[in-house]
Amino acid sequence: LHATVTLDPAFTVAPVRRRTFGAFVEHLGRCVYTGIHDPGHPSADADGFREDVIALVRELGVSTVRYPGGNFVSGYRWEDGIGPVEQRPARLDLAWHSTEPNTVGVDEFMRWCHKAGVEPMMAVNLGTRGVQEALDLLEYCNIAGGTHWSDLRRAHGTEQPHDIRMWCLGNEMDGPWQIGHKTAEEYGRLAAETASAMRMIDPGLELVVCGSSGSQMATFGEWERTVLAATYDDVDHISAHSYYHEADGDLASFLASALDMDAFVDAVVATADAVRAARKATKRITISFDEWNVWYIDAAESKVPTDWPVAPRLLEDHYSVADAVVVGNLLISLLRHSDRVVSASLAQLVNVIAPIMTEPGGRVWRQTTFHPFALTSRHAHGEVLRVEVASPTHETARFGDTPVVDAVATHDVEAGDVSVFVVNRSVGEATTVEVDVRAFGAVRLVEALTLADADPHAKATPDDDGALAPRPNATAAVTDGRLRVELPPVSWSMLRLS
Ligand code: AHR
Repeated sequence: LHATVTLDPAFTVAPVRRRTFGAFVEHLGRCVYTGIHDPGHPSADADGFREDVIALVRELGVSTVRYPGGNFVSGYRWEDGIGPVEQRPARLDLAWHSTEPNTVGVDEFMRWCHKAGVEPMMAVNLGTRGVQEALDLLEYCNIAGGTHWSDLRRAHGTEQPHDIRMWCLGNEMDGPWQIGHKTAEEYGRLAAETASAMRMIDPGLELVVCGSSGSQMATFGEWERTVLAATYDDVDHISAHSYYHEADGDLASFLASALDMDAFVDAVVATADAVRAARKATKRITISFDEWNVWYIDAAESKVPTDWPVAPRLLEDHYSVADAVVVGNLLISLLRHSDRVVSASLAQLVNVIAPIMTEPGGRVWRQTTFHPFALTSRHAHGEVLRVEVASPTHETARFGDTPVVDAVATHDVEAGDVSVFVVNRSVGEATTVEVDVRAFGAVRLVEALTLADADPHAKATPDDDGALAPRPNATAAVTDGRLRVELPPVSWSMLRLS
């Protein structure tokens, strides 16, 4: 197979946004407890946070971290997680049928954010709670002092306000599984009331209203229209969530999952702009794609327990090369939509459908999905380019006629660096890709890395998490302004020029 990709520095989409490389920490399974927080671990700091995990979070290149949920937040009482730890109540977590010990709460999480060098993205509970509790949490976090909640934060040892800028107005309120699930009208009203009251405390907050939990939701589209009609003036972003997995052995459709993400984003943009036109508004709503990943949602790993354990092994998916190729392709999709997708969160960060895995008191290791995320975060810089891909197509059961090759590129004008991220979605055939870079003048190849394996279902192991890391692709070479490279089947690659 043969494909061409044409690049031109004049054809830009938008700047690369650091917030595209966000992640998500939920009180779910072992994401918090024995994930980021494990006081008995040899690398734990004075707050009980694992420094070996923080080192991998930094290596992953994570920008923002959404917290504390997820479905968990819709039953969460944030006040349970503040003050002396020994006085905090244990609670039933209905979302994951677990016991929440409340050892970690907002103050601990914020300390972790500082240590990990990430920006927080805080979610409020609009499932079992409402406007007042959201205001109380905002006052606790962002007011300097002199009020009940802010002085309580100071009494608890955090003198300076946390100054959290991004806030999510609930989580997946369109989902029947959500505690306090609402109709679009009910949720739109509550979100608008909460948003406008939060802005009375701080007009400069960035507020994310809940969009759909996936493009397969029966209410998709109409939900966005109704919710945005109710909240348009009070919010900045609308959320999108999407998870993918290989079903019934149909690898080709799974590898093309980014087509669904592309269509999802385009539909939300169209809907938001239709609301804008009807309101004669000038402001544009942008997208926070704040849950996305590969998730084998029907697998045994995702069955909730029956006996209310603390930090059970839940959603601990073990990822393959094909899963990593899809993750890399989903990042390509997010990047090419950088004009409207201004923030995104890989769900999740540690242990729970995560690129980083831990053993309680033991090792930390990287899943296959770690690598495309880390490399894209590290090397996507400057402007996202609108690339012209001419690819052979193949038939997939889910998407019909599907391009085999998908790509995006970024251009750092000052440094003169060009990074190309490209996937070969063919299940069985290598594809030669020719990237036309003549518009950049004389450029040389800096690096070509490819993630692939003879067995697309091969998985990294805790003992050897580097075994399936991307390897130099020796076929890559630039001649006469054209970069030629051979991409093996089911592969993700990064090509860097300067
Ligand atoms: O990330 C796992 C779960 O997926 C989240 O809690 C929920 O928001 C979504 O359904």
